[in-house]
Amino acid sequence: MLKVDVAGLELSPPLVLASGILGVTAKIMARVSEHLGAITTKSVGARRREGYPNPVVCPLPYGLLNAMGLPNPGIDYFEEVIREFKKLSKKPIIVSVIGSDSPEYVSSRAEEAGADAIELNVSCPHAGGLLELGMDIEQVRRIVRDLKSILSIPLFVKLSPNIQDIGKLAETCEKAGADGITAINTVRAVKIDLLSKKPLFKSIYCGLSGAAIHPIAVRCVYEIYEKVSIPIIGVGGVVNWESAVELILAGASAVGIGTALTQDIAIAKEIASGILEYMRSEGFKSVSEMIGLAHKR
Ligand SMILES: Cc1cc2nc3c(=O)[nH]c(=O)nc-3n(C[C@H](O)[C@H](O)[C@H](O)COP(=O)(O)O)c2cc1C
Repeated sequence: MLKVDVAGLELSPPLVLASGILGVTAKIMARVSEHLGAITTKSVGARRREGYPNPVVCPLPYGLLNAMGLPNPGIDYFEEVIREFKKLSKKPIIVSVIGSDSPEYVSSRAEEAGADAIELNVSCPHAGGLLELGMDIEQVRRIVRDLKSILSIPLFVKLSPNIQDIGKLAETCEKAGADGITAINTVRAVKIDLLSKKPLFKSIYCGLSGAAIHPIAVRCVYEIYEKVSIPIIGVGGVVNWESAVELILAGASAVGIGTALTQDIAIAKEIASGILEYMRSEGFKSVSEMIGLAHKR
């Protein structure tokens, strides 16, 4: 009942580990995958990247701020992580690739290593540059087209809520050949430290995630669904089954969970059984019957 096809990936339940959350070692990813339909890795680039100095996270009562600076071990190392994961888990592994760091090279190495799909990250709110925010539409279009010409696995593009018209950008990605859209990345924010009276993070900007951004994620998924026919992985502020169902009704084929899993990985199991309960009580036989229902007038 909880099985769903997302761009050829079979997800059961329709829940995905969001990028950057626990996705660093094969063992941890394999453990989390037990309760999810698929996992997305931390965004990877061609070379090892240190990220920003501490502090890189700041918990808030209603969410989490982070400015990690996309730290990652680089594809040379990560290739082994992908291979190891494939031995430990049967769940699909979506490898997130940094849009501004040789995405073609990294994606093809990831595919060779066994990745089931690629997620192109053009939406980091604190890494700097227009591409990171998905604001350079021409460049996003070109990268998607180039990636599609070399990949034989599905390509998702992860979009930012910080742009003017997320629906239009999703449409551009679909026309360039993307197989799916992931939305949303974190919401661009700034935190001021009261003692130093300066921005807390070295990068000044940071990204807000968790419960606070859920209505923004729902709005973005709703707008994207109106513009594209490729599947959407809805991410942002999913903390319980209700928030997951809301994203599905807005148009998501599957739901990504990030911040909530950093507190408790068992939450994925609770969310899956909550969705199932809801389906039973509302008379749905499959997840696909629920996708985008909020658009029916
Ligand atoms: C600590 C942290 C690190 C993240 N790293 C990445 C990343 O490397 N690549 C990416 O595309 N998104 C990254 N994200 C964004 C999440 O994948 C997700 O889009 C966002 O947190 C919203 O979902 P949530 O509210 O469930 O956390 C990160 C988020 C957090 C909190």
